[in-house]
Amino acid sequence: MFEQVQIAPSILSANFMSLGSEVERLERAGAGMLHVDVMDGHFVPNLSMGVPVVKQLAKTTSFPLDVHLMISNPLYQLPWFLEAGANLVTVHIEALQNEEEVRKAYEMAHNAGVKFALSVKPKTPVSEIASFIELLDMVLIMSVEPGFSGQSYIEGSDAKVAEVVQIAQSAGVSPLIQVDGGIGLKTAPIVCAAGADVLVCGNAVCGAPDPARALQDILSVAESARKEALQ
Ligand code: DX5
Ligand code: ZN
Repeated sequence: MFEQVQIAPSILSANFMSLGSEVERLERAGAGMLHVDVMDGHFVPNLSMGVPVVKQLAKTTSFPLDVHLMISNPLYQLPWFLEAGANLVTVHIEALQNEEEVRKAYEMAHNAGVKFALSVKPKTPVSEIASFIELLDMVLIMSVEPGFSGQSYIEGSDAKVAEVVQIAQSAGVSPLIQVDGGIGLKTAPIVCAAGADVLVCGNAVCGAPDPARALQDILSVAESARKEALQ
């Protein structure tokens, strides 16, 4: 658990023509990390960005790079992203075939000194990752079907956040809990009240006319909801 909620703006909604200055602006605005959505057109229907973008970002910013791998064959490509400069890699449990593959992915990240997270799609129960909770630096709960930004938050996703909190508490660990999809002013308080630490915001921040302002507004409602829930 972070002391404070963090926003991870997703550059999927950023203006790629001025990515460098957008990233600087988000850093100055108080974002905690940069969310990089990698899509292969197979695990999800869309294609987005890959290793070259991560490499360039790592060269130009000291911002932690949170790389969300929506790809079918993560064990094959994971080493490329680790080498490219990811600080945290998230792999989907649905893309790993068995327990051995999960452990292999964890070891690859761990040996490279990179933080490791598992993600569940909206229809995947949290119980799928429960037995790996001790390996995880973060759990990512998808609150939309992965593939596109600008979708609406799937109601009830906060219950999955609360479930992760329970599983982690019983295991005596405290991985970060990230939520991704349809997070903005209305939904940030809901997931933060349930225990979310990191909010991925695409459209609500990078797509806003004033991203810095949008980020601060979301942070403020998220923090209040978290404080209230902890009281
Ligand atoms: C969707 C991606 C998200 C996306 C979020 O598959 O994983 O990170 O960029 O975008 P918003 O916040 O607009 O739902
Ligand atoms: Zn994402």
